[in-house]
Amino acid sequence: MRLFQTSSWCILLVSLLTLALPSSPAQAEESSTPRKPTLKQAAGPNLLMGCAVSASDLDNPQRAALIADQFSCLTAGNEFKPLSLQREKGKFTFEQADKIADFAQQHGMKLIGHNLMWHNQAPAWLFEDENKQPLPRAQALANLKAHIDTVMKHFQGKVLGWDVVNEAVGDSEPYLRDTPAHKAIGDDFVVQAFKLAHAADPNVQLYYNDYNMEEPYKHAKSMRLIKELKAAGVRLDAVGIQGHWLIDKPDVAMIEKCIDDFAGLGVKVMITELDVDVLPRKNAGADITATEKAGLDPYKDGLPADVQQKLAKRYGEIFKILAKHRGEITRITFWGVDDGTSWLNFFPVRGRTNHPLLFDRNLQPKLAFDAVIEALKASSPR
Ligand code: XIL
Repeated sequence: MRLFQTSSWCILLVSLLTLALPSSPAQAEESSTPRKPTLKQAAGPNLLMGCAVSASDLDNPQRAALIADQFSCLTAGNEFKPLSLQREKGKFTFEQADKIADFAQQHGMKLIGHNLMWHNQAPAWLFEDENKQPLPRAQALANLKAHIDTVMKHFQGKVLGWDVVNEAVGDSEPYLRDTPAHKAIGDDFVVQAFKLAHAADPNVQLYYNDYNMEEPYKHAKSMRLIKELKAAGVRLDAVGIQGHWLIDKPDVAMIEKCIDDFAGLGVKVMITELDVDVLPRKNAGADITATEKAGLDPYKDGLPADVQQKLAKRYGEIFKILAKHRGEITRITFWGVDDGTSWLNFFPVRGRTNHPLLFDRNLQPKLAFDAVIEALKASSPR
């Protein structure tokens, strides 16, 4: 009798368990796997997670939903640049930029203004006459002031901070790049831009932004510029390390040294244009004029599993360092949302199939996404 009782209890228990258990693996996944944290959740409240977008990215409902879900901050890939906003002198065109600003506002996202002064994607008339000769300093400063005043006032209250000057440190020059602005205004062209920006909107954050500042050839020059800006007494909230990195370069120790060195000068650090190029190329860096005519295109049909893993490992290592420096780093922005819209499909070689971001062409998170989430979770948000 007792034996019978025990075995019938067992049968009852097993049947109940069977009923409670999901019948298919898909069901098991649905009911037992909690939703992955989003990038902004894993980053915590004091570290912005951003992406660069184009106004047309926001027309795709799936992509728009992914952006709003994962990120807390937007940068316009092109729409805020001087060439987009004032191609013709005195004619401002804000429609596309406003679309991005409106999206940010509707979704409670921060917005970064990129940029006020750069030697690329800027109209020639700002600093040169019709014969391509530098304008007199006063005229160049007046043009710059008119641009900065109008643009910053237009976005006042909507933008958290501006990349005031982009890429002023020279690649080949001993110190600053000899840009049209440098030729027209003189050695203080960076300082002047920061002064004009602060005067136009004293309440907004101001950044200096550049690539390869972690590379020894450019590091000392970048340190010198930050020190000179501080000595000139201009407002400088953060230095943006663009972060256009390769699958095997630079070494994360170099990235860490750069963060430490900049933070040691009393500025916050931002990673402003992060992506990891998986394709072979001749030169590192992000000089947009340094295009290459041809290059191999080995992953047209997708990224093989071993490279996918390599990319995840690389992202994991980068984020381990970045997460360790929460506190000094206030924002990490990816240059794009998904592989399909990355600029690296066109740079440095046109028309290749690159895979540099955390979301694939179907907007699905890659292994690299998991590696980033793990690295962020492993360090406690502050
Ligand atoms: C890139 C855009 O993503 C491209 O669409 C455009 O054709 C060229 O510029 N560093 C910067 C960014 O500061 O503004 C650049 O953006 C990439 C390199």
